[in-house]
Amino acid sequence: MKDDELIRKASEVQTTAVASYSHFNVGAALRTKSGKIYTGINIESSSYSLTICAERVALFKALSEGEREFDSIAIVTDSVELCPPCGACRQVLWDFAPDIKVILANRHGKTKEYLLRNLFPAAFDQNYLQV
Ligand code: THU
Repeated sequence: MKDDELIRKASEVQTTAVASYSHFNVGAALRTKSGKIYTGINIESSSYSLTICAERVALFKALSEGEREFDSIAIVTDSVELCPPCGACRQVLWDFAPDIKVILANRHGKTKEYLLRNLFPAAFDQNYLQV
């Protein structure tokens, strides 16, 4: 199944997360509408607030390669409770992929999927920049 492959890719990179301070490893795998997969890990800085989440790393990698159409993103952590994307990642995903499917998974085989639009209701976006 397509989603299993995405979860597998996110699991593979999750082990390489640079989570030196939180030790909370996150892996993400973002699939474009054309079927290409871009992965991301969380990368932490000694100046903690400069940390970037796995989801945004995957999205920014894809955007910087010219991708603009996204289908789904898988997010994998070690936590017993499935880890949903943080508010900052929801915003940036919304800006570029409001219709994206968000698949959460952990290393214990638990999964759940959402549509971003249900995770991020009444969102701010470029439409509100008109004055
Ligand atoms: N983190 C992510 O990579 N994605 C999320 O959706 C939640 C949080 C990272 C940021 C930080 O490196 C660590 O998890 C703990 O917050």
